[in-house]
Amino acid sequence: MSFFSQQLNKFVSAISTDMAIDLGTANTLVYVRGKGIVLNEPTIVAINKKTGQLVAVGNEAKAMQGRTPQHIEVVRPLVDGVISDFEVTEEMLGYLINKVHGEMRSLIAPRMLIGVPSGITNVEMRAARDAAKNAGARDVFLIEEPMAAAIGSKLPISKAIGSMIIDIGGGTTDIAVISLNGLVVAKNLRVAGDHLNVAIASYVRDQFKIYVGEKTAEDAKIALAAVRTDGTSNEMVVRGRDVMTGLPREVIITAGDVRDAVSSQVETIVEATRGVLEKTPPEVMSDIMQRGINLCGGGALIPGLSSFLEETLQVPVIVVPDPLRAVVRGAGIVIENLEQYEEVLIDNEEELSPYLN
Ligand SMILES: Nc1ncnc2c1ncn2[C@@H]1O[C@H](COP(=O)(O)OP(=O)(O)OP(=O)(O)O)[C@@H](O)[C@H]1O
Ligand SMILES: [Mg+2]
Repeated sequence: MSFFSQQLNKFVSAISTDMAIDLGTANTLVYVRGKGIVLNEPTIVAINKKTGQLVAVGNEAKAMQGRTPQHIEVVRPLVDGVISDFEVTEEMLGYLINKVHGEMRSLIAPRMLIGVPSGITNVEMRAARDAAKNAGARDVFLIEEPMAAAIGSKLPISKAIGSMIIDIGGGTTDIAVISLNGLVVAKNLRVAGDHLNVAIASYVRDQFKIYVGEKTAEDAKIALAAVRTDGTSNEMVVRGRDVMTGLPREVIITAGDVRDAVSSQVETIVEATRGVLEKTPPEVMSDIMQRGINLCGGGALIPGLSSFLEETLQVPVIVVPDPLRAVVRGAGIVIENLEQYEEVLIDNEEELSPYLN
């Protein structure tokens, strides 16, 4: 690179608002270089079906959920951690770029770093790259979410020391063992917080014969979820529609109900973690035994989950500080120091993750 183009590059990156995005199934967080986390909103969009235009994004769209007239549709453009509605995702990203970028947008487009679940297909990676490009990014970089979460949790990813992180999000659970800037063993499970909501709603339908909405099930989960018996005395009133009469009815559900509803999903996560540990080389395993497993993502907040994992797997388990922001914190560190972290980025579609099937 000539001196001139180096200087030009420096100048361009100084005035462009580079950003790192944790594009999650449940929540989208945006970090802007030099500024920090500037946005944290649900990954939900409201669209006018007649005009195709965005009516609302994030919290505003979430508040409309279940309360819209016929011509407005509330959409969650990501399912199981990956883009399911490409156009809506692109529009949402464009809106977010505009929001954080303001007038600068027309001058220099930003570079964008996006977190993706480990083990996604090349087609899914391309969709993320294209959505960001079409939304106005100058360059797009991808990072595996568990890697970003590990960086955001200050784990020694570049050293010859094994670290383990489990990110239980809304759509996916990423379980990864990291050493020397790479994933040693990883597994991506499409079982996470949203699936717990579905399990709670179907449990309530079977046991109490009422239909409850997604949001009600999530509220019950957040209020009552506990993997242990300790919370059994807690209870809450949930409202739904009677399966037989079709009329509104309310019932009281307890923490014990929620625990029963989600137990098989929790078991799946525990078993997958066991599977990853079994594939982990002995030296790395010994590091993890000493340093523990780090838990992040919204699912890390379920009371009793970390101690349940700890006892079942006989390995210490630590919930990282501020677990919902671990990925965006890490992605932010990377976008601030792109050269230093080049090795942890996903090469243009070629890289094969060592994930288990
Ligand atoms: N206090 C809590 N207790 C239990 N679950 C919670 C709590 N707070 C949030 N959650 C759940 O965490 C999930 C969202 O977590 P997170 O923001 O990490 O997911 P995401 O990054 O958007 O999804 P993904 O990484 O799977 O694409 C939701 O399912 C939400 O219900
Ligand atoms: Mg996530």
